[in-house]
Amino acid sequence: MSRKILVTSALPYANGSIHLGHLVEYIQTDIWVRFQKMQGHTVHYVCADDTHGTPIMLRAEKEGITPEALIESVHQEHAADFAEFLVSFDNYYSTNAPENKALSQSIYKKLKAAGKIATKTIEQFYDPVKNMFLPDRFIKGECPKCHAKDQYGDSCEVCGATYNPTELINAYSAVSGAAPIRKETEHYFFKLSECEDFLKEWTRSGTLQGEAANKMGEWFESGLNDWDISRDAPYFGFEIPDAPGKYFYVWLDAPIGYMASFMNLCAKQGLDFDEYWQADATTELYHFIGKDILYFHALFWPATLEFSGHRKPTKIFSHGFLTVNGEKMSKSRGTFITARSYLDHIKNPEYLRYYYAAKLNSSMEDIDLSLDDFVARVNSDLVGKYINIASRTAGFINKRFAGKLQSAADNMEVAEIKSAAMLIASAYEAREYGKAIREIMRLADIANGYVADKAPWVMAKQEGQDAELQQVCSAALEMFRLLTLYLKPVLPKLALEIEQFLNITALTWESVDLSLVEGHGINAYEHLITRIEPTLIAAMTEANKENLTATAQVSAPILAPIAPELADAEYISIDDFAKVDLRIAKIVNAEHVEGAEKLLKLTLDIGEATTRQVFAGIKSAYDPATLVGRLTVMVANLAPRKMKFGMSEGMVLAASDDRGGPFILSPDAGAQFGMRVK
Ligand code: MSP
Ligand code: ZN
Repeated sequence: MSRKILVTSALPYANGSIHLGHLVEYIQTDIWVRFQKMQGHTVHYVCADDTHGTPIMLRAEKEGITPEALIESVHQEHAADFAEFLVSFDNYYSTNAPENKALSQSIYKKLKAAGKIATKTIEQFYDPVKNMFLPDRFIKGECPKCHAKDQYGDSCEVCGATYNPTELINAYSAVSGAAPIRKETEHYFFKLSECEDFLKEWTRSGTLQGEAANKMGEWFESGLNDWDISRDAPYFGFEIPDAPGKYFYVWLDAPIGYMASFMNLCAKQGLDFDEYWQADATTELYHFIGKDILYFHALFWPATLEFSGHRKPTKIFSHGFLTVNGEKMSKSRGTFITARSYLDHIKNPEYLRYYYAAKLNSSMEDIDLSLDDFVARVNSDLVGKYINIASRTAGFINKRFAGKLQSAADNMEVAEIKSAAMLIASAYEAREYGKAIREIMRLADIANGYVADKAPWVMAKQEGQDAELQQVCSAALEMFRLLTLYLKPVLPKLALEIEQFLNITALTWESVDLSLVEGHGINAYEHLITRIEPTLIAAMTEANKENLTATAQVSAPILAPIAPELADAEYISIDDFAKVDLRIAKIVNAEHVEGAEKLLKLTLDIGEATTRQVFAGIKSAYDPATLVGRLTVMVANLAPRKMKFGMSEGMVLAASDDRGGPFILSPDAGAQFGMRVK
């Protein structure tokens, strides 16, 4: 029976490049989609860029472009990466689209009409310089437990402690460096706490993997909190109807982006949107996601759908995280590899598709890309076992028999390979790709055993064995055809080339029951795939290694990085460092500031036409008079900050910790003011 299936992968954020971790998901989904299409089902596979939120807004600002321009260029980049990895979206859209705006607003109105929206005044951190509320990730400061500097507002990367931003010592805004203040604001909430009965019932319906259902159980136990769905301007997103200055939190409109992308596809292809989204839909809906976003997909999303009168997902398929060589992807080790960098170095995307397939199963366990194993596996399985079957037999058919085949209908090995079709199909259906690949490679071993046993290269040298030579090579190519069919969801481009070589129409699952018949003519065999050179891997990791520049421990932020970018990075690059304009400065004046507890007002000469005024928190350690005439080091290109006592046009560097300080820095004798420090 033909099924109607809508499939999604999670929408990647539009503020970064696609990397090999993301590709686990898109390749996993794509294999499943291609398999279902080969089964003859009607499948729509949609995705989009997730474009809203504070990080994207700030990154655009930093780059000096509009958020629209930023997400447009990222969209092009993502779409090209996915196309080259053969991810076959039927539509790749954007959450910043009219369909998504209309759907988000109408869903919100339905939730409101259903009594599921409440407002509450809450207190939030606010950046008084930048005039915006700050998400936790944009507040940094000293860890309250281990006193590591420059830690995020939610957790410490040094000691692993988790806490509230209020507990940070000397908290500062990662956007402006200013000390955040607390400010009241009215927020809109989705009353998730009232959805518990529905969600418990839904969890029992078998929509989730066992591990995911267990996680849900833990969440129920700790109690469901209402979900804050609004953010204050400035925010890049959709405004909430009848609530000026309030925007939907990005995670409200992101999953609705699945619907919007599909709606856009419906318009292009004349499909019926409601058939897939109305409350009593009989079509199937599957979301592929990573385990990190289960909370959003298993709690908020079904509740949003339920109380806005829509159908719920048939199943949510959650996968684990990618590690490389057994460890978290790392920029310093060169294992934080972007899709583009892989393509530049290794070129063939199907090697990675094959390796991931060989490793994937239906669980939420992490999967490891061991780079040595990757090379060994691809070379031995794809080149050594699979392609070998054709490369050792096709030449004889072409040269000796004008490309014409014999029937292989009576061949025992062919029959055995055919009989595995059901098992392989059910492994794909169940997302047990590793199992499917193991079975296919077992069959490839059978085919290779057959060829080795018959040794056509020996027959070819003997008189009177032509008929058998043609028979053996035809049977081998029939086996090769079947293996190609089984591998086609994983290796679609190679399969297409092989279809051309075998001179057959596109393989579908039904083609298992067909055969290459007597007299069928094939085309010339051309080399289909080459081994991976291990040196390519070394070159790729080398190219992805970021410079290990020593980071100076300074007590105040000298860089104001955007949080999500820093989350992956353990080091800054030399280019990042070069952005900091450090100069030797001469302190031409220093004075106390009326009413300031910690600050001195310094006038600095860095050889420019005018001097700089800088407020420095060094009053506790220095008598201003002793400073005048000294040389020190300043950050000359720090954005000017308006402080209570006036503008601060840079920053002087000083060392301090619990052993003392602050101690301002001095250059060695001979340094002149105005010199660059690099
Ligand atoms: N924008 C959200 C998803 C919104 S869906 C309505 C998001 N984006 S993401 O770019 O961070 O991640 C996209 C998908 O890639 C997620 O499912 C995520 O789990 C997955 N992965 C990101 N890094 C990954 C690994 N290192 N390993 C495996 N999957 C990973 O989350
Ligand atoms: Zn700590």
